[in-house]
This record gives sequence, C-alpha cells and structure tokens, in this order.
Amino acid sequence: MDWMKLRTIMLAGLALTAILSYGQAPDASADARIARGKYLAEEVAKCQDCHTPKTEKGDFIKSQWMKGATLDFTPAAPMMGWHSKSVDITSTSALWARWQVAGMTKFLETGKNPRGNKAGPPMPDYTMNHEDADAITAYLKSLP
Ligand code: HEC
Repeated sequence: MDWMKLRTIMLAGLALTAILSYGQAPDASADARIARGKYLAEEVAKCQDCHTPKTEKGDFIKSQWMKGATLDFTPAAPMMGWHSKSVDITSTSALWARWQVAGMTKFLETGKNPRGNKAGPPMPDYTMNHEDADAITAYLKSLP
C-alpha cells in the first residue's frame, strides 16, 4: 500500500471517530432535542402565532418571542371561556416557575395543566407523544 492510500484511510478513520464521539456527547443530544422542539413549536404547532406579540404591520416582535400576546383574532360567534390573551411560556415566566419541566411536558402530553384543568380556547389541548412534548419543553426552557 502506498503512503497516500494509507494516509487517506487514516484520515477517514479520524474523521469517523470525531463524528461518533460528537454524536455521543451529551451537549450534542441536548442541542438536537432543542432543535427538534423548535421545529415542532415554530413550524408545526405554530405556538408563536398566539404567544408572540406582533407589530401593527403584523410582524413578530422578536425580542418578545413567546412572551405572551393579545390575540389578533376573535371567534366568529361568541364562545364560552374565550381568552383574548395568551401567556408567557418562556423559561423566565411566572408559569414556568410554577410548572417546571415536568408540568409543561405533562400539559403537552395530556392537555391538562398541573391543576388538572384544560386551558381555555383558543389554546389547543394537545396530546403529544412523550418525545415531542419533551423536545418542545426543552426548546421553551432554552428561551430567555
Ligand atoms: C391558537 C392560538 C394558540 C396556539 C397555536 C397556542 N396557544 Fe398556548 N395559549 C393560547 C391562549 C389564548 C392561552 C390562554 C388560555 C388560558 O389561560 O386558559 C394559552 C395558554 C397556554 C399555556 C398555559 C395554559 C394554562 O392552563 O395556564 C401554555 C403552557 C401554552 N399555552 C403553551 C403553548 C404551546 C407550547 C404551544 C405550541 C405547541 C401553544 N401554546 C400554542 C393560545 C394558543
């Protein structure tokens, strides 16, 4: 075997080792969980549509991401228990201080808050699987 071939094989081996150890690092998997939670929250469930305030032109106010908002829509017909405001769901909120990770995960899995009640409309009552609820909770926990 010539030197160039041997060198290529050795470099490939090193790269593979680097990839494998990166994949196993706890930080990498925590980051992956947050990234998945961000995708589910922002692209699938679109929590920000109701939980992030908007400017008059309708653009999200990025500095208040998921900090609770006055909704910019109302029900077509009057609806019992309708909430015109959503709450702050970031890690620094009063809600987070009460619910913590366990409460938020359970709420997304069962649709019930720690008091055993469903949230009022138009908050959807989600019944997500544990993995998805866990990922969204990790993402919300990463929000200041
Ligand atoms: C269609 C609008 C809408 C969407 C989408 C939405 N929410 Fe809400 N959310 C609300 C409103 C309005 C409230 C206030 C309801 C209440 O206080 O009972 C609320 C309340 C909550 C609460 C507090 C519930 C309680 O019992 O105190 C949490 C936690 C929450 N939302 C998380 C989320 C998450 C996470 C997502 C995305 C996965 C999301 N919401 C998507 C409108 C929405």
